[in-house]
Amino acid sequence: MKVLMIGSGGREHALVKKLLESERVDSVICAPGNGGISFDAECFNISVMDIEGMIALAKEQMADFVFVAPDDPLAAGMVDAFEKEGFRCFGPSAAAARIESSKVFSKNLMKKYGIPTASYEVFSDAEKAIAYIEQQGEFPVVVKADGLALGKGVIIAENMAEAVDAVKSIMEDKVFGASGNNIVVEEFLTGPEVSVLSFTDGKTVAPMVSSMDHKRALDGDKGLNTGGMGTVAPNPFYTEEVAKVCMDTIFAPTIKAMQAEGCPFKGCLYFGLMLTPDGPKVIEYNSRFGDPETQVVLPLLKTPLIDVIEAVADEKLDEIFVEFSDEACACVILASGGYPGSYKKGIEINGLNEKGNVDGATVFHAGTKCENGKILTNGGRVLGVTAKAETLEIALEKAYTAASKIDFEGVHKRNDIGQRALSALK
Ligand code: AMP
Ligand code: GLY
Repeated sequence: MKVLMIGSGGREHALVKKLLESERVDSVICAPGNGGISFDAECFNISVMDIEGMIALAKEQMADFVFVAPDDPLAAGMVDAFEKEGFRCFGPSAAAARIESSKVFSKNLMKKYGIPTASYEVFSDAEKAIAYIEQQGEFPVVVKADGLALGKGVIIAENMAEAVDAVKSIMEDKVFGASGNNIVVEEFLTGPEVSVLSFTDGKTVAPMVSSMDHKRALDGDKGLNTGGMGTVAPNPFYTEEVAKVCMDTIFAPTIKAMQAEGCPFKGCLYFGLMLTPDGPKVIEYNSRFGDPETQVVLPLLKTPLIDVIEAVADEKLDEIFVEFSDEACACVILASGGYPGSYKKGIEINGLNEKGNVDGATVFHAGTKCENGKILTNGGRVLGVTAKAETLEIALEKAYTAASKIDFEGVHKRNDIGQRALSALK
Protein backbone atom coordinates (compact mmCIF):
# COMPACT_ATOMS: atom_id res chain seq x y z
CA MET A 1 0.00 0.00 0.00
CA LYS A 2 0.99 3.57 -0.61
CA VAL A 3 -0.22 6.06 1.98
CA LEU A 4 -0.42 9.85 1.56
CA MET A 5 0.14 11.69 4.86
CA ILE A 6 -1.08 15.28 4.97
CA GLY A 7 0.63 17.65 7.41
CA SER A 8 4.07 18.86 8.37
CA GLY A 9 4.74 18.54 12.09
CA GLY A 10 6.27 16.21 14.64
CA ARG A 11 2.94 14.41 14.86
CA GLU A 12 3.04 13.64 11.15
CA HIS A 13 6.66 12.45 11.41
CA ALA A 14 5.62 10.02 14.17
CA LEU A 15 2.66 8.83 12.07
CA VAL A 16 4.86 8.33 8.98
CA LYS A 17 7.46 6.34 10.92
CA LYS A 18 4.79 4.18 12.54
CA LEU A 19 3.04 3.45 9.23
CA LEU A 20 6.37 2.38 7.71
CA GLU A 21 6.67 -0.27 10.45
CA SER A 22 3.53 -1.96 9.09
CA GLU A 23 4.44 -4.78 6.72
CA ARG A 24 1.58 -4.01 4.37
CA VAL A 25 2.78 -0.45 3.83
CA ASP A 26 5.24 -0.24 0.91
CA SER A 27 5.71 3.50 0.99
CA VAL A 28 4.45 6.71 2.53
CA ILE A 29 4.46 10.07 0.79
CA CYS A 30 3.85 13.32 2.63
CA ALA A 31 2.60 16.81 1.81
CA PRO A 32 3.93 19.28 2.65
CA GLY A 33 6.17 17.35 5.12
CA ASN A 34 9.39 18.76 6.58
CA GLY A 35 13.15 18.23 6.61
CA GLY A 36 13.06 15.20 8.88
CA ILE A 37 10.06 13.56 7.25
CA SER A 38 11.91 13.71 3.92
CA PHE A 39 14.37 11.07 5.25
CA ASP A 40 11.44 8.63 5.54
CA ALA A 41 8.93 9.74 2.92
CA GLU A 42 9.03 11.62 -0.35
CA CYS A 43 7.63 15.09 0.38
CA PHE A 44 5.59 17.29 -1.94
CA ASN A 45 5.39 21.02 -1.39
CA ILE A 46 1.63 21.54 -1.40
CA SER A 47 -0.08 23.79 1.12
CA VAL A 48 -1.97 21.91 3.80
CA MET A 49 -5.18 23.81 2.91
CA ASP A 50 -4.96 23.20 -0.85
CA ILE A 51 -7.68 20.57 -1.19
CA GLU A 52 -7.60 20.51 -5.01
CA GLY A 53 -3.81 20.24 -5.01
CA MET A 54 -3.85 17.37 -2.52
CA ILE A 55 -6.44 15.45 -4.55
CA ALA A 56 -4.40 15.94 -7.72
CA LEU A 57 -1.31 14.64 -5.88
CA ALA A 58 -3.13 11.57 -4.56
CA LYS A 59 -4.36 10.76 -8.07
CA GLU A 60 -1.01 11.30 -9.74
CA GLN A 61 0.81 9.25 -7.09
CA MET A 62 -1.93 6.59 -7.02
CA ALA A 63 -2.22 6.69 -3.23
CA ASP A 64 -4.23 3.81 -1.76
CA PHE A 65 -5.04 5.59 1.48
CA VAL A 66 -5.05 9.22 2.61
CA PHE A 67 -4.42 10.35 6.18
CA VAL A 68 -5.41 13.95 7.01
CA ALA A 69 -3.66 14.82 10.29
CA PRO A 70 -4.08 18.59 11.04
CA ASP A 71 -7.21 20.35 12.29
CA ASP A 72 -7.51 23.12 9.66
CA PRO A 73 -7.93 20.91 6.55
CA LEU A 74 -10.26 18.61 8.51
CA ALA A 75 -12.46 21.57 9.48
CA ALA A 76 -12.35 22.73 5.85
CA GLY A 77 -13.74 19.39 4.59
CA MET A 78 -10.66 17.77 3.10
CA VAL A 79 -11.79 14.27 4.04
CA ASP A 80 -15.25 14.88 2.54
CA ALA A 81 -13.57 16.03 -0.69
CA PHE A 82 -11.26 12.98 -0.86
CA GLU A 83 -14.10 10.56 -0.16
CA LYS A 84 -16.17 12.14 -2.93
CA GLU A 85 -13.30 11.26 -5.26
CA GLY A 86 -13.42 7.65 -4.06
CA PHE A 87 -10.33 7.69 -1.80
CA ARG A 88 -10.17 5.77 1.46
CA CYS A 89 -9.29 8.18 4.25
CA PHE A 90 -8.49 8.51 7.91
CA GLY A 91 -10.02 11.60 9.51
CA PRO A 92 -13.44 13.03 10.34
CA SER A 93 -15.84 14.84 8.01
CA ALA A 94 -16.07 18.63 8.38
CA ALA A 95 -19.37 18.16 10.23
CA ALA A 96 -17.74 15.83 12.76
CA ALA A 97 -14.60 18.00 13.03
CA ARG A 98 -16.81 20.77 14.49
CA ILE A 99 -16.26 18.99 17.81
CA GLU A 100 -12.91 20.80 17.77
CA SER A 101 -13.43 23.67 15.34
CA SER A 102 -16.38 25.12 17.26
CA LYS A 103 -16.29 25.28 21.03
CA VAL A 104 -19.93 26.41 20.96
CA PHE A 105 -20.81 23.18 19.10
CA SER A 106 -18.86 20.97 21.51
CA LYS A 107 -20.10 22.69 24.67
CA ASN A 108 -23.72 22.48 23.50
CA LEU A 109 -23.22 18.81 22.58
CA MET A 110 -21.93 18.04 26.07
CA LYS A 111 -24.81 19.92 27.69
CA LYS A 112 -27.44 18.17 25.54
CA TYR A 113 -26.07 14.67 26.19
CA GLY A 114 -25.06 15.11 29.84
CA ILE A 115 -21.32 14.72 29.28
CA PRO A 116 -19.40 16.23 32.22
CA THR A 117 -17.67 19.52 31.42
CA ALA A 118 -17.18 22.97 32.97
CA SER A 119 -20.45 24.91 33.21
CA TYR A 120 -20.59 27.74 30.67
CA GLU A 121 -22.49 30.38 28.72
CA VAL A 122 -22.10 31.37 25.06
CA PHE A 123 -22.01 35.03 23.99
CA SER A 124 -22.01 36.86 20.68
CA ASP A 125 -22.02 40.26 22.38
CA ALA A 126 -19.08 41.59 24.40
CA GLU A 127 -21.18 43.78 26.72
CA LYS A 128 -23.43 40.87 27.68
CA ALA A 129 -20.43 38.62 28.31
CA ILE A 130 -18.85 41.23 30.58
CA ALA A 131 -22.11 41.79 32.46
CA TYR A 132 -22.43 38.03 33.00
CA ILE A 133 -18.88 37.68 34.35
CA GLU A 134 -19.46 40.64 36.68
CA GLN A 135 -22.71 39.20 37.96
CA GLN A 136 -21.12 35.75 38.55
CA GLY A 137 -18.20 37.42 40.35
CA GLU A 138 -16.13 34.21 40.47
CA PHE A 139 -12.45 34.17 39.56
CA PRO A 140 -10.47 32.80 37.89
CA VAL A 141 -12.89 32.59 34.96
CA VAL A 142 -12.10 31.03 31.59
CA VAL A 143 -12.77 32.91 28.33
CA LYS A 144 -12.51 30.93 25.07
CA ALA A 145 -12.77 31.95 21.43
CA ASP A 146 -15.28 29.75 19.60
CA GLY A 147 -13.07 28.75 16.67
CA LEU A 148 -9.60 27.37 15.99
CA ALA A 149 -6.80 29.55 17.37
CA LEU A 150 -3.61 27.45 17.33
CA GLY A 151 -4.25 26.35 20.91
CA LYS A 152 -4.01 29.98 22.06
CA GLY A 153 -7.71 30.93 22.14
CA VAL A 154 -8.13 30.24 25.87
CA ILE A 155 -7.62 32.99 28.44
CA ILE A 156 -7.74 32.35 32.17
CA ALA A 157 -8.67 35.67 33.77
CA GLU A 158 -7.76 36.13 37.43
CA ASN A 159 -9.91 39.20 38.01
CA MET A 160 -12.54 41.46 36.43
CA ALA A 161 -10.00 43.69 34.66
CA GLU A 162 -8.33 40.69 33.01
CA ALA A 163 -11.71 39.27 32.05
CA VAL A 164 -12.74 42.53 30.39
CA ASP A 165 -9.42 42.60 28.50
CA ALA A 166 -9.91 38.99 27.41
CA VAL A 167 -13.44 39.53 26.12
CA LYS A 168 -12.51 42.75 24.32
CA SER A 169 -9.34 41.37 22.73
CA ILE A 170 -11.20 38.33 21.38
CA MET A 171 -14.52 39.94 20.39
CA GLU A 172 -13.60 43.54 19.55
CA ASP A 173 -9.90 43.53 18.60
CA LYS A 174 -10.39 40.09 16.99
CA VAL A 175 -6.94 38.84 17.98
CA PHE A 176 -8.03 35.39 16.78
CA GLY A 177 -9.93 36.74 13.76
CA ALA A 178 -13.38 35.32 13.03
CA SER A 179 -12.70 32.55 15.60
CA GLY A 180 -13.69 35.20 18.14
CA ASN A 181 -17.13 36.12 16.76
CA ASN A 182 -18.59 34.03 19.56
CA ILE A 183 -17.06 33.24 22.92
CA VAL A 184 -17.59 30.70 25.65
CA VAL A 185 -17.27 31.89 29.25
CA GLU A 186 -16.75 28.93 31.55
CA GLU A 187 -16.11 27.79 35.05
CA PHE A 188 -12.46 27.31 36.09
CA LEU A 189 -11.73 23.65 36.86
CA THR A 190 -8.84 22.21 38.84
CA GLY A 191 -7.06 18.86 38.88
CA PRO A 192 -4.49 16.91 36.86
CA GLU A 193 -4.91 17.04 33.08
CA VAL A 194 -4.91 13.90 30.96
CA SER A 195 -4.91 13.51 27.19
CA VAL A 196 -6.65 10.41 25.87
CA LEU A 197 -6.46 9.86 22.13
CA SER A 198 -8.89 7.30 20.78
CA PHE A 199 -9.58 5.50 17.55
CA THR A 200 -13.23 5.52 16.59
CA ASP A 201 -15.16 4.40 13.52
CA GLY A 202 -18.29 6.25 14.62
CA LYS A 203 -19.66 3.24 16.53
CA THR A 204 -16.83 1.67 18.48
CA VAL A 205 -14.25 3.60 20.48
CA ALA A 206 -10.78 2.24 21.28
CA PRO A 207 -8.90 4.55 23.67
CA MET A 208 -5.13 4.63 23.28
CA VAL A 209 -2.65 4.72 26.12
CA SER A 210 -3.07 7.97 28.11
CA SER A 211 -0.56 10.80 28.07
CA MET A 212 0.33 14.11 29.72
CA ASP A 213 1.22 17.27 27.81
CA HIS A 214 3.23 20.21 29.18
CA LYS A 215 1.65 23.24 27.58
CA ARG A 216 3.48 26.14 29.20
CA ALA A 217 6.76 27.41 27.76
CA LEU A 218 8.82 27.39 30.96
CA ASP A 219 9.74 25.02 33.79
CA GLY A 220 7.27 24.78 36.66
CA ASP A 221 4.34 25.45 34.26
CA LYS A 222 5.31 29.11 33.96
CA GLY A 223 5.25 31.30 30.88
CA LEU A 224 2.93 31.38 27.90
CA ASN A 225 0.83 28.54 26.54
CA THR A 226 2.47 26.72 23.63
CA GLY A 227 1.41 23.91 21.31
CA GLY A 228 3.11 21.59 23.85
CA MET A 229 6.72 21.42 25.14
CA GLY A 230 6.86 17.73 25.95
CA THR A 231 4.80 14.67 26.78
CA VAL A 232 4.91 11.43 28.70
CA ALA A 233 2.85 8.26 28.42
CA PRO A 234 1.16 6.65 30.19
CA ASN A 235 -0.25 9.35 32.49
CA PRO A 236 -0.03 8.02 36.08
CA PHE A 237 -3.10 10.01 37.18
CA TYR A 238 -5.20 8.04 34.71
CA THR A 239 -5.76 4.84 36.68
CA GLU A 240 -7.85 1.89 35.48
CA GLU A 241 -10.65 3.09 37.70
CA VAL A 242 -10.59 6.56 36.16
CA ALA A 243 -10.44 4.99 32.69
CA LYS A 244 -13.61 3.06 33.38
CA VAL A 245 -15.46 6.16 34.56
CA CYS A 246 -14.28 8.03 31.46
CA MET A 247 -15.48 5.26 29.15
CA ASP A 248 -18.93 5.21 30.77
CA THR A 249 -19.50 8.94 31.25
CA ILE A 250 -17.45 10.53 28.45
CA PHE A 251 -16.08 8.35 25.65
CA ALA A 252 -19.05 6.12 24.82
CA PRO A 253 -21.62 8.94 25.33
CA THR A 254 -19.64 11.26 23.01
CA ILE A 255 -19.54 8.66 20.22
CA LYS A 256 -23.30 8.10 20.62
CA ALA A 257 -24.00 11.84 20.74
CA MET A 258 -22.16 12.43 17.46
CA GLN A 259 -24.15 9.59 15.85
CA ALA A 260 -27.40 11.04 17.17
CA GLU A 261 -26.47 14.47 15.76
CA GLY A 262 -26.05 12.88 12.32
CA CYS A 263 -22.30 13.43 12.19
CA PRO A 264 -20.65 10.21 13.38
CA PHE A 265 -16.98 10.80 14.20
CA LYS A 266 -14.49 8.63 12.29
CA GLY A 267 -10.80 9.07 12.96
CA CYS A 268 -8.85 10.01 16.06
CA LEU A 269 -10.93 11.71 18.71
CA TYR A 270 -8.80 13.38 21.36
CA PHE A 271 -10.27 13.83 24.81
CA GLY A 272 -8.59 16.60 26.81
CA LEU A 273 -9.68 15.77 30.35
CA MET A 274 -9.34 17.26 33.78
CA LEU A 275 -9.59 14.92 36.76
CA THR A 276 -11.51 17.27 39.06
CA PRO A 277 -12.57 16.54 42.66
CA ASP A 278 -16.05 15.92 41.15
CA GLY A 279 -14.76 13.36 38.66
CA PRO A 280 -13.31 13.52 35.14
CA LYS A 281 -14.55 16.38 32.96
CA VAL A 282 -13.93 17.35 29.35
CA ILE A 283 -11.73 20.44 28.89
CA GLU A 284 -11.71 20.12 25.12
CA TYR A 285 -12.11 17.73 22.25
CA ASN A 286 -9.70 17.63 19.33
CA SER A 287 -10.68 16.06 16.04
CA ARG A 288 -7.20 14.67 15.41
CA PHE A 289 -4.06 13.20 16.91
CA GLY A 290 -2.48 15.58 19.45
CA ASP A 291 0.96 17.07 19.01
CA PRO A 292 3.22 16.13 20.86
CA GLU A 293 1.00 13.40 22.41
CA THR A 294 1.25 11.30 19.23
CA GLN A 295 5.04 11.19 19.59
CA VAL A 296 4.73 9.25 22.90
CA VAL A 297 1.55 7.26 22.22
CA LEU A 298 2.39 5.73 18.84
CA PRO A 299 5.75 4.23 19.88
CA LEU A 300 3.74 2.17 22.40
CA LEU A 301 1.21 0.88 19.84
CA LYS A 302 1.79 -2.80 19.12
CA THR A 303 -0.97 -3.42 16.56
CA PRO A 304 0.10 -2.37 13.04
CA LEU A 305 -1.19 1.19 12.57
CA ILE A 306 -2.37 0.48 9.03
CA ASP A 307 -4.66 -2.30 10.33
CA VAL A 308 -6.24 0.09 12.81
CA ILE A 309 -6.80 2.98 10.43
CA GLU A 310 -8.25 0.68 7.78
CA ALA A 311 -10.62 -0.77 10.38
CA VAL A 312 -11.69 2.79 11.22
CA ALA A 313 -12.24 3.67 7.55
CA ASP A 314 -14.20 0.44 6.98
CA GLU A 315 -16.20 0.87 10.22
CA LYS A 316 -14.93 -2.48 11.49
CA LEU A 317 -13.06 -1.32 14.57
CA ASP A 318 -15.01 -3.86 16.68
CA GLU A 319 -13.27 -6.65 14.77
CA ILE A 320 -9.73 -5.85 15.86
CA PHE A 321 -7.89 -5.60 19.15
CA VAL A 322 -5.80 -2.45 19.51
CA GLU A 323 -2.88 -3.36 21.73
CA PHE A 324 -0.35 -1.18 23.56
CA SER A 325 2.94 -2.02 25.21
CA ASP A 326 3.17 -1.48 28.96
CA GLU A 327 6.41 0.44 28.64
CA ALA A 328 6.70 4.21 29.15
CA CYS A 329 7.60 6.88 26.62
CA ALA A 330 8.84 10.48 26.94
CA CYS A 331 9.22 13.29 24.41
CA VAL A 332 11.20 16.48 25.00
CA ILE A 333 10.59 19.33 22.56
CA LEU A 334 13.50 21.47 21.38
CA ALA A 335 12.04 24.84 20.42
CA SER A 336 13.35 27.99 18.77
CA GLY A 337 14.42 30.78 21.15
CA GLY A 338 11.46 33.14 21.58
CA TYR A 339 8.71 30.57 20.85
CA PRO A 340 5.69 30.91 21.31
CA GLY A 341 6.47 34.55 20.50
CA SER A 342 8.53 35.52 17.45
CA TYR A 343 11.70 33.58 16.64
CA LYS A 344 14.34 33.24 13.92
CA LYS A 345 14.28 30.50 11.28
CA GLY A 346 16.99 28.95 9.13
CA ILE A 347 19.48 28.24 11.94
CA GLU A 348 21.73 25.21 11.44
CA ILE A 349 21.07 22.30 13.79
CA ASN A 350 24.15 20.47 15.10
CA GLY A 351 24.41 17.00 16.55
CA LEU A 352 22.02 15.09 14.27
CA ASN A 353 23.34 12.17 12.18
CA GLU A 354 22.91 11.87 8.41
CA LYS A 355 19.38 10.50 8.95
CA GLY A 356 18.39 13.45 11.14
CA ASN A 357 18.47 11.29 14.27
CA VAL A 358 20.65 10.75 17.37
CA ASP A 359 21.75 7.55 19.07
CA GLY A 360 19.65 6.38 21.98
CA ALA A 361 16.40 8.07 20.96
CA THR A 362 14.08 8.82 18.06
CA VAL A 363 13.99 12.40 16.85
CA PHE A 364 10.68 13.43 15.36
CA HIS A 365 11.12 16.57 13.27
CA ALA A 366 8.54 19.36 13.57
CA GLY A 367 9.92 22.66 12.22
CA THR A 368 12.96 21.69 10.13
CA LYS A 369 14.05 21.89 6.52
CA CYS A 370 16.99 20.41 4.60
CA GLU A 371 19.14 22.71 2.47
CA ASN A 372 22.47 21.84 0.81
CA GLY A 373 22.91 18.81 3.05
CA LYS A 374 22.27 20.82 6.22
CA ILE A 375 19.31 20.56 8.58
CA LEU A 376 17.94 23.99 9.50
CA THR A 377 15.28 25.22 11.91
CA ASN A 378 12.01 26.18 10.23
CA GLY A 379 9.41 26.66 12.98
CA GLY A 380 8.69 27.26 16.66
CA ARG A 381 8.76 23.70 17.80
CA VAL A 382 11.77 22.20 16.01
CA LEU A 383 12.42 18.63 17.21
CA GLY A 384 10.79 16.12 19.54
CA VAL A 385 13.40 13.87 21.14
CA THR A 386 11.63 10.68 22.16
CA ALA A 387 12.60 7.55 24.03
CA LYS A 388 10.77 4.56 25.44
CA ALA A 389 11.84 2.26 28.23
CA GLU A 390 10.59 -0.08 30.92
CA THR A 391 9.98 2.83 33.28
CA LEU A 392 9.21 6.51 32.84
CA GLU A 393 12.34 7.43 34.78
CA ILE A 394 14.58 5.60 32.30
CA ALA A 395 12.65 6.90 29.29
CA LEU A 396 13.13 10.49 30.52
CA GLU A 397 16.82 9.93 31.16
CA LYS A 398 17.29 8.54 27.66
CA ALA A 399 15.34 11.39 26.06
CA TYR A 400 17.22 14.10 27.96
CA THR A 401 20.62 12.49 27.31
CA ALA A 402 19.88 12.35 23.59
CA ALA A 403 18.48 15.91 23.62
CA SER A 404 21.71 17.21 25.18
CA LYS A 405 23.63 16.05 22.08
CA ILE A 406 21.62 18.40 19.84
CA ASP A 407 22.29 22.09 19.64
CA PHE A 408 21.29 25.17 17.69
CA GLU A 409 21.52 28.89 18.41
CA GLY A 410 18.79 29.95 20.84
CA VAL A 411 17.52 26.39 21.50
CA HIS A 412 14.99 26.23 24.29
CA LYS A 413 13.60 23.21 26.11
CA ARG A 414 11.89 22.52 29.40
CA ASN A 415 13.99 20.66 31.93
CA ASP A 416 11.11 19.29 33.98
CA ILE A 417 9.13 17.22 31.48
CA GLY A 418 7.64 14.22 33.31
CA GLN A 419 8.54 15.44 36.83
CA ARG A 420 4.92 15.77 37.93
CA ALA A 421 4.21 12.29 36.55
CA LEU A 422 7.26 10.87 38.32
CA SER A 423 6.21 12.33 41.68
CA ALA A 424 2.73 10.85 41.22
CA LEU A 425 4.35 7.44 40.75
CA LYS A 426 6.29 7.69 44.01
P1 AMP B 1 -7.73 24.24 25.47
O1 AMP B 1 -7.16 25.00 24.30
O2 AMP B 1 -9.21 24.22 25.53
O3 AMP B 1 -7.08 22.89 25.63
O4 AMP B 1 -7.22 25.00 26.76
C1 AMP B 1 -5.85 25.22 26.99
C2 AMP B 1 -5.55 24.99 28.45
O5 AMP B 1 -6.27 25.93 29.25
C3 AMP B 1 -5.97 23.62 28.96
O6 AMP B 1 -5.02 22.64 28.72
C4 AMP B 1 -6.15 23.91 30.44
O7 AMP B 1 -4.91 23.86 31.11
C5 AMP B 1 -6.66 25.33 30.47
N1 AMP B 1 -8.12 25.34 30.59
C6 AMP B 1 -9.03 25.34 29.60
N2 AMP B 1 -10.27 25.34 30.10
C7 AMP B 1 -10.16 25.34 31.44
C8 AMP B 1 -11.10 25.35 32.54
N3 AMP B 1 -12.41 25.37 32.33
N4 AMP B 1 -10.61 25.35 33.78
C9 AMP B 1 -9.25 25.36 34.00
N5 AMP B 1 -8.35 25.36 33.03
C10 AMP B 1 -8.77 25.34 31.76
N1 GLY C 1 -0.93 19.02 22.48
C1 GLY C 1 -2.24 19.52 22.41
C2 GLY C 1 -2.86 19.48 21.09
O1 GLY C 1 -2.42 18.81 20.17
O2 GLY C 1 -3.87 20.14 20.90
